[in-house]
Amino acid sequence: MSDFWSWWIIVVVVINVGGFYLLLQWTRKVKVKSSSKGTTGHVYDGIEEYNNPLPRWWLNMFYITFVFAIGYFILYPGLGKFEGVLKWTQENQLEGEVEQASKIYQPLFDKYLNVPIAELAKNKQATEMGKRIFVNTCFGCHGSDARGNPGYPDLTDNDWLWGGKAENIELSIIKGRTGQMPAFGESLKAHEIDELVNYVGKLSGNDVDATKAAAGKLLFDVNCFVCHGQDGKGNIDVGAPNLTDSVWLHSASRSGIAETIRNGRMNQMPPHAEILGKARVHLVAAYVYSLSNQ
Ligand code: HEC
Ligand code: HEC
Repeated sequence: MSDFWSWWIIVVVVINVGGFYLLLQWTRKVKVKSSSKGTTGHVYDGIEEYNNPLPRWWLNMFYITFVFAIGYFILYPGLGKFEGVLKWTQENQLEGEVEQASKIYQPLFDKYLNVPIAELAKNKQATEMGKRIFVNTCFGCHGSDARGNPGYPDLTDNDWLWGGKAENIELSIIKGRTGQMPAFGESLKAHEIDELVNYVGKLSGNDVDATKAAAGKLLFDVNCFVCHGQDGKGNIDVGAPNLTDSVWLHSASRSGIAETIRNGRMNQMPPHAEILGKARVHLVAAYVYSLSNQ
């Protein structure tokens, strides 16, 4: 805010408060000529107005509002850029509340930090806490029920890109993961991609063109096995999915699979170590673990 507008606000506020005070004093002093009956002579539909002074309590309430207003402007921000003696801001109120809350909850979180995830996953209180963290932090991508969305893995199905052991899951959350499937649109011809689609289809048990699938297998053994493995069962070291099951990260359709092979995929799980801190990562990892290890 520029100095000009700051002063503008200060002047308007002071004129208003001062103006109301003067108005009040003035109306108290104005003498209205009273008739012999003590009325002002104003008559509305036969109703006459008495010329009584304002009741004292009413006037006092008015004075209290002035004291309140002046006190408020001294303590809190209101007069232009003046921050108020208490230096209150929305931000530090929030920070204070967050600090208060973490004083209460941090010991609860820390209590679980040294309990192994597999054990925590059986602890109802811990998984409830983990679930709350999940719903706050992870649902945008994985869905509030953790069943995922196209491109975002289902975390309930015991099928893992990067491994489903407790330490794999925790590491996925701490460091994040980047899954990269290279594009083959340049290096393979359209019919070769089609043959691969047939072979990938065969791997997951679909009805396919057997001749094309056989040709696809030869291409697979040259181009794809490094990551997806000779048997197509994937590799958790590079996050390459198992292609032999019915779980699909991106698309199960022939055209979707062809698109994956042609254009590749680049997929990222952001690291959460700093966002959540160790103790909460541990709890949310236990919750995720519990979803497929009941
Ligand atoms: C911005 C979106 C996003 C958010 C937020 C997010 N994730 Fe992920 N997550 C992903 C993506 C995308 C992948 C898949 C990465 C890949 O393709 O290799 C993933 C992968 C994972 C994996 C590995 C799954 C596997 O099959 O190995 C776990 C575990 C996981 N996320 C848990 C979480 C948890 C717990 C949170 C919240 C603390 C979270 N994620 C928040 C996008 C997200
Ligand atoms: C450098 C390693 C690498 C190579 C080589 C590779 N892939 Fe992949 N592939 C991946 C990764 C990693 C993913 C998962 C991408 C993600 O996380 O979104 C993937 C995903 C896929 C998917 C999508 C699976 C799903 O569930 O939606 C298909 C289909 C696929 N690959 C087929 C192939 C075929 C066919 C080849 C050979 C032409 C191949 N890949 C070569 C690493 C590789």
